[in-house]
Amino acid sequence: MSIIATDIPAATGGAGVPAAGPTRGLVEITKVRKSFGAVEVLKGITLTVEPGGVAVIVGPSGSGKSTLLRTINHLEKVDGGFIAIDGTLVGYEVRGSTLHELREKDVLKQRTEIGMVFQNFNLFPHLTALENVTEAPVVAPRSGKPRLSKAQARERGLELLDRVGLKDRAGAYPRQLSGGQQQRVAIARALALEPKILLFDEPTSALDPELVNEVLDVIRGLAKSGTTLIIVTHEMGFARDVADTVVFMDQGQIVEQGSPQDIFSNPREERTRSFFSKVIEPAFNI
Ligand SMILES: Nc1ncnc2c1ncn2[C@@H]1O[C@H](COP(=O)(O)OP(=O)(O)OP(=O)(O)O)[C@@H](O)[C@H]1O
Ligand SMILES: [Mg+2]
Repeated sequence: MSIIATDIPAATGGAGVPAAGPTRGLVEITKVRKSFGAVEVLKGITLTVEPGGVAVIVGPSGSGKSTLLRTINHLEKVDGGFIAIDGTLVGYEVRGSTLHELREKDVLKQRTEIGMVFQNFNLFPHLTALENVTEAPVVAPRSGKPRLSKAQARERGLELLDRVGLKDRAGAYPRQLSGGQQQRVAIARALALEPKILLFDEPTSALDPELVNEVLDVIRGLAKSGTTLIIVTHEMGFARDVADTVVFMDQGQIVEQGSPQDIFSNPREERTRSFFSKVIEPAFNI
């Protein structure tokens, strides 16, 4: 497939980013469209997330949130528009005036720069927590980075497990861990490749309520660390707390976006107001 390459964003390469802030992880989503059969589920999505920014996407079921996340790491191909990370197109390359889809090998290479954490953890059941974390850097090191030795990978894996509070469970298998612990291992695994951006698709929705906070606390820590985060969640208190930008999606479109204050306390659009009146308890205020 080739697409006419009009409006392709100029390569930015992080140029112009203040030296003090993070310099990588700029996400530019431009006019992205995606259909499944006759149903258009993304109807021209345009969204920029600055390096180190935290964008939280909220919206009703079926509004296209997961599909949008999946287009960012090219798990879904787009039918129109494009996505660039640090000025490099995701899933395509420009040849002449057309876009050509990258070969699978190159897509996989790109994907190592984009971590994804799923609702259901997706850990390897036959590997320990530590092995789940070290598997990726040993098997598929990020492009341009040297392959780690087994001992180096182990040391790095323990560091990452420590970061999510699970160093003492390094030898445990997923079935021996609680849902919250499994999700924290999944986060450590996503961090192992030092991704430019991390995508979270409802990371706490499969968890018992008492385990939600331990996972949200880890994500709060990441939000302060300068990795660009894009998070789909139904946890509105968490969204208010952690987001730089809250994006409200409905029926394949971004209805409005803004600071948590803007979106939760002062939404401009009736659709946003009506959604929040259903999902937010009356006592919720900022
Ligand atoms: N692989 C697919 N094939 C066909 N339709 C799909 C596919 N994936 C998603 N859809 C449809 O696209 C629409 C958007 O789905 P998506 O999963 O992105 O919504 P969502 O906002 O993540 O919803 P939820 O909050 O329930 O997770 C839905 O109508 C869904 O049925
Ligand atoms: Mg979803």
